[in-house]
Amino acid sequence: MKHRFAYLLAITLVLGAGAAAAQQSREDCERDFRPRSGQPGKDVIWVPTGDETVSAMLKMAGVTPRDLVVDLGAGDGKIAIAAAKEFGARARGIEYNPDMVKLAQCYAVVEGVADKVDIQQGDIFESDFSDATVVTMYLLPSLNLQLRSTLLDMKPGTRVVSHSFDMDDWEADETYGEGYHQAYLWIVPAKVAGRWDFVQVDGEERFTVELEQSFQKLSGTVALGGTSQPLTQARVRGDEIVLEFTGADGRSHTLTGTVGAAGIEAARDGVKFRATRS
Ligand SMILES: C[S@@+](CC[C@H](N)C(=O)[O-])C[C@H]1O[C@@H](n2cnc3c(N)ncnc32)[C@H](O)[C@@H]1O
Repeated sequence: MKHRFAYLLAITLVLGAGAAAAQQSREDCERDFRPRSGQPGKDVIWVPTGDETVSAMLKMAGVTPRDLVVDLGAGDGKIAIAAAKEFGARARGIEYNPDMVKLAQCYAVVEGVADKVDIQQGDIFESDFSDATVVTMYLLPSLNLQLRSTLLDMKPGTRVVSHSFDMDDWEADETYGEGYHQAYLWIVPAKVAGRWDFVQVDGEERFTVELEQSFQKLSGTVALGGTSQPLTQARVRGDEIVLEFTGADGRSHTLTGTVGAAGIEAARDGVKFRATRS
């Protein structure tokens, strides 16, 4: 009997706590700490991204339920919360200010996405976010540049979206909006610089491509049939590479491929090739 009573009491407490959480409002979250736009932050002040821009940034990044979105300098968690609520993604926010962390966690509960959103207290320059498939930021030009090499070392195809600030000579793949509300998207490019030996999978054809790389932009030469000529077009978007050149027959050819750890799997005019870097 005693056990039954304890059991019922425990159930009541759990259900009661759940109901209280469900009933909590955003105002309740702000009872202990109310943020102020422009308040100081560790490396940059807090100013929230506007609702419309948040949605547009996540849409431009093509966020889906398969993504893990990480917002660097998460503020009140609105980007992480929108990623979960509007796009069904898992999301993590990294925020230095512990009061903002608590507030963002509380908002995530109120918005019903606490199971998908993890707000962590930490310094973005000391946190590991290499598991992100999408990184969002609203920081400063200098902070974007400080993060740039870390971002470029992420898995090819990772999408990076920044509100307001660009990445200097790493040109955006896409932009949204204008002026203060502008947002930029970059697709982390595979690192493909060097000399690649292409070998036909079911045949004897071979050729060599030398690539120079500046972020997603490529240039280079192709050596085939005893002559070397410049690539007429070359680009890499994530792990997808496209090379265009004029063949020995004088016709234009397009080689499209996927860059992986073992090399490039490619096809040209329906003929399959594999390439390794020498
Ligand atoms: C401009 S706000 C952007 C907030 C949110 N991402 C948004 O777009 O609405 C920048 C946030 O970064 C936080 N921050 C500044 N330096 C940081 C650092 N080194 N590590 C983590 N967060 C930081 C600030 O506290 C602030 O909340």
